[in-house]
Amino acid sequence: MNTRVLTGITTTGTPHLGNYVGAIRPAIEASRRDDVDAFFFLADYHALIKSDDAARIERSRLEIAASWLAAGLDPQRVTFYRQSDIPEIPELTWFLTCIASKGMLNRAHAYKAAVDKNAAAGEDADAGISAGLYMYPVLMAADILAFDANQVPVGRDQIQHIEMARDLGQRFNHLHGHEFFVLPEALIEEQVATLPGLDGRKMSKSYDNTIPLFAGGAKQLREAIMRIVTDSRAPGEPKDPDSSALFTIFRAFAGEAETAAFRQALLGGIGWGEAKQALYERIEADVAPMRERYEALMADPAAIEATLRQGAQKARAIATPKLAALREVLGLRAMTTAPVARAKAAPKHERSPRFASFRDDDGRFRFRLFSADGEELLLSRPFADPKAAGALQKRLRSLGAAAAVLQLQAQGMSLELDGEAVASTPDYRDEQARDEALAQLRAALDQLAAQA
Ligand code: TRP
Repeated sequence: MNTRVLTGITTTGTPHLGNYVGAIRPAIEASRRDDVDAFFFLADYHALIKSDDAARIERSRLEIAASWLAAGLDPQRVTFYRQSDIPEIPELTWFLTCIASKGMLNRAHAYKAAVDKNAAAGEDADAGISAGLYMYPVLMAADILAFDANQVPVGRDQIQHIEMARDLGQRFNHLHGHEFFVLPEALIEEQVATLPGLDGRKMSKSYDNTIPLFAGGAKQLREAIMRIVTDSRAPGEPKDPDSSALFTIFRAFAGEAETAAFRQALLGGIGWGEAKQALYERIEADVAPMRERYEALMADPAAIEATLRQGAQKARAIATPKLAALREVLGLRAMTTAPVARAKAAPKHERSPRFASFRDDDGRFRFRLFSADGEELLLSRPFADPKAAGALQKRLRSLGAAAAVLQLQAQGMSLELDGEAVASTPDYRDEQARDEALAQLRAALDQLAAQA
């Protein structure tokens, strides 16, 4: 079973070394694992909450996309997209807003911090606080729930948001009596170093102590490194590696042997200037080839645009059918289609969808699902064990359309359970035929669930 890992990057800044070591590098490494299905996106709707500077948001989107691609993100493997290209996200945000308790949002850390700041300044509690900031956790829950993410790698400050996403997902599931949403878990990477910045505090844009990853080229990288604060020990005096930001940053890039050698050099009294040069050279060895790709990408925004649009298409292949199902359970279905209640009340003797099991040429066990009218709807994947095929049939009987995760493909669709494609439809000649088949499949799943 694949684990769907999803994370968003708010597009208000320019990536620095701390972002690279703490987020970009580990996320890309994780995305290469065979059991991981990674979704990374530019959270540009979230950026609007923090900034009304259009030029800055535009630039940040481009720089962040180029940085992740330059650092090795493979858009064929990862679903890499922009939040604002997925209309299903704001749609789901509204559905979740309608079940979110205002009290829960009052308790959100970011909102509470803003209220406390107003109180300390003797201002009205909500002075200058936008409803966007207030709703921030609901938008984030929609980001996550729209794609049934299992794990969400985030910093500690975001744990509460993941809890709220779970809470909203659970509430929706409970209200509508079905497991519509996978409940996500926060993934806190304990072993990932938080990198110290120029002044020794955590490297962060808000402390203005960052070292740029690509911006400004090798020259600015070197200049920033030369500004890292050190103690006043002179060349020849032993330096303490464990209290040195320089050493911590070095270790985040170097292997064990190199790190041990650098430790010895510090203990042996290497001058700070020389140590900084060594740090610069170590980082530059990793960064230089990525920077070359970064610059090529920055010079070709059309290529990045095309990559992100393809990503949005992949993402929407999941979100579109999901939201269609949610609209239905909420009472927003088209008036021309039969309501769920009528399907449920169908008399027993009415013909129903049926399964037909068979063995394929390789002796493996599969089955098809046919509609009540005898149309083929689904073909299961092959199983070596007939019990496994039987177990899947059983799950499909009680699944119901709303809980079905369907991936639209060019000509057909596949049905996923636990992140794995378990069955597929025939190929259809065009989109209209596919959409009709989708409606039929959904009706059949609902009819089976009503009988289960
Ligand atoms: N709020 C996150 C941050 O500031 C960014 C974000 C937006 C996000 N939507 C998300 C992270 C969904 C994980 C999942 O870091």
